[in-house]
This record gives sequence, structure tokens and C-alpha cells, in this order.
Amino acid sequence: MTEAPNPAHMTQDPIAGLEGVVAATTSLSDVDGQNGILILRGKKIEDLAGLVSFEEAVMHLWQDLDVAKVSSMVAAFGQARLAAFEVVPLLEAAPPTLSVYERMQLGLAALPLSEALPAPIAISGALPVFLAASHRIAHGKEPIAPDETLGCAKDLLRMLTGEVPPKTHADALNRYLVTILDHGLNASTFTARVIGSTQADMRQAILGAMGALSGPLHGGAPGPVLDMIDAIGAPENAEDWITATLARKERLMGFGHRIYRTRDPRADVLKSGLRQLGQENPKVKLAEDIEREALAALKKAKPDRTLDTNVEFYTAVLLDAIGIDRSLFTPLFATGRTPGWCGHVLEQQQNGKLIRPASQYVGPMPE
Ligand code: ACO
Repeated sequence: MTEAPNPAHMTQDPIAGLEGVVAATTSLSDVDGQNGILILRGKKIEDLAGLVSFEEAVMHLWQDLDVAKVSSMVAAFGQARLAAFEVVPLLEAAPPTLSVYERMQLGLAALPLSEALPAPIAISGALPVFLAASHRIAHGKEPIAPDETLGCAKDLLRMLTGEVPPKTHADALNRYLVTILDHGLNASTFTARVIGSTQADMRQAILGAMGALSGPLHGGAPGPVLDMIDAIGAPENAEDWITATLARKERLMGFGHRIYRTRDPRADVLKSGLRQLGQENPKVKLAEDIEREALAALKKAKPDRTLDTNVEFYTAVLLDAIGIDRSLFTPLFATGRTPGWCGHVLEQQQNGKLIRPASQYVGPMPE
């Protein structure tokens, strides 16, 4: 009997970065890169962020998935935070060399999962606790126990500082967490789906997604955005600094996107959040000046490619404005994206097939 041809041997040149390849169907989110539109399960991001809490947005995102059958996501996430706090002694005992992000991954690996709470809720609810505790441990401070009655954003800020945050700060963090909840098949979500497609457990999928998110071309950018703003220091330095950076063939953090060929709509949603903070913040003005210079310089340097502002630019400015340390930007991104990752894993496991693409062999052949 003749064997069916191995598709790997029929493969043409691989598609660099899988750009434009459709690898999943999803009802969770859609990114229209030409028109700068992000839809989360039928709603534009502008109609969610700043208008609903993180918990309400998660309920909205998960509405057709089994996990959403809880009557209150605030209560369910509160319960998950309490359960996660049991793991905190292990984080305190971990080597001091671990970063906040690595300590969060450790907590996640050790998080007991049970029938009592669906894994997506247990995991999504746990990350704020691990984030806040890990930050405090890194600064020699006692971790603070969660208050399960509060919303996630407010309790996260309280667990970080020990003080109930101003409403404006909790609102800004809610806006941020909703803005980054889900975003199509980006690198970390694809990673989560690949791991989920093997029927591995949800925790493994989220650990893998966190790994993918951590790189500077993905969720690792906002800390460097703030470093860039600080390094420029004043509007009159922006042009020279940016020109020199591009001449060195370095990238400007917070600009460019694989999908958007226009402005990332999340940038403006976060910029509106800065306005709602209502404070005179010199860094916001500086950021706007830098953005203007950067866009002009990128247009000149890459006339054939639209390089516009992405979500990370105003993420950095907004989180800084509410007093969040830059070392926590990527950990917070993972915290807000986790329910999105979980939704994709559930979809993949319910409808999908093992993801196993082919490679083109370019090594030596046997004699
Ligand atoms: N600054 C300077 N040049 C850039 C930038 C940038 N921010 N972004 C892209 N380019 C240039 C590249 O150097 C490349 O030029 P070349 O063709 O002469 O080599 C060209 O534009 C195309 O870049 P690619 O890397 O092929 O585009 P891709 O779609 O793969 O990259 C990415 C998207 C990774 C986001 C890129 O724009 C980038 O590195 N931006 C800076 C990092 C950043 O802001 N990351 C956060 C992204 S948002 C998120 O993931 C949540």
C-alpha cells in the first residue's frame, strides 16, 4: 500500500512569523488591524474599558463558556484570592534571585486546584495575590492578605500598598485590565492554545503563555517605554534621542504592531484613562511630545511600513501615573490577560485539534 504523502515534504517556504496564517476560530476577540478596531465578544473595546469592571468584562468574555456559570465574578475571584494566599509562604521561602514574574509562576505551579473552583477562576483570581505578595517580598515587606469582598483592581492595589486606593486609581487599573483582557491570536495566546491543544492542564497553558508574554517584542515592552521616556527627560531632547536610537537600528518601544496598520485602539482607551485621572502630570505631556516625535521619525525611517503607537506606550504612562512600579508592568499584563488565555484554552479544548504544524528540513541528508 502506498503511504499518503507526508505534508511536511510538500511544504513550500515557511511563512515568516506565521504572519497572516489563520490557526484558530474564536468567539472571544477580533482584531481588525486595517481599521484599528478591537472587538471583545461583540463589543468594541471602547464600549467596555472605562465603563465596566474587570470582573464584568471577564463575565462578558466567558459568557458562552462553562466557567461563567457563577452568579458573581467578584465573589468567585475573591474566593480564589483567599485560596491563593495559602500558597504565599512558599513564595516567601523561594530564593531572593527570583523576579516578581518568576515568583508568580512559582505560585501558579503550586496552586492547588480542586472541584470547588473552576481552574480559570482559581488561576485568574490567584495572580493578583501572587503579584502583590511577590512585590512586597522583594522589598522585604510582609505580604498582605486579600479582602475577598473587594473588586480585583481595588484589592490588588490594596495588597500592594497596604492602603485602600483612591477610587480614581482603582478605576484606572480596572480600565487597564479590561483593555488588555484579550487580543486575538497573539504570541502568548497562541502558546496557550498550543499547550491546551495537547489537553495539558490549564495551569500549564497559562505558565507557557506567561513565558511567551515576557519578551520585549510582546508584553515586556512597557517597562522599557518608561525607561525611554525617562532617558529623553525633556521634549527638546526627543528628536535627537529618537534619531540616534533609530540610527543604531534599535526599536522604539511602544510603537509598531504585527496586526495594526493604524493606531492601536487600546492606546487611546488608555490615554482617556489618563485624562480621567485629572491630575497635572508632567510625564503625560512629555509622553505626548515624545509620541509625536517618534511617529514622525518612524514615518521618515520606514516610509513603506505604518508604524504607529501600540498599547504598551500609554500602558507605561497610565500605570506609572497611579504609582505602579515599572517592574510590575509585565506581571500586571499577565494578570489582566489570564482570563483571555483561559478562554482560548477552553475553546481550543472544546473544539480544536492537536496543533502540530510542519517544518521544512534544511539540514544535511544521510549518506
Ligand atoms: N521601532 C523601530 N523600527 C521598527 C519598530 C519600532 N518600534 N517596529 C518595527 N520596526 C521596523 C523593523 O525594524 C523592521 O524594519 P526592517 O524591515 O528594515 O528590518 C520593520 O519595521 C518591520 O518590523 P517587523 O519586526 O518585521 O514587524 P513585526 O510585525 O514582526 O513586529 C513588533 C511587531 C514586534 C511589535 C515590532 O513593531 C516591535 O518590535 N515594536 C517594539 C516593541 C513593542 O512595542 N512591543 C509591544 C508590542 S504590543 C504587544 O505585544 C502587546
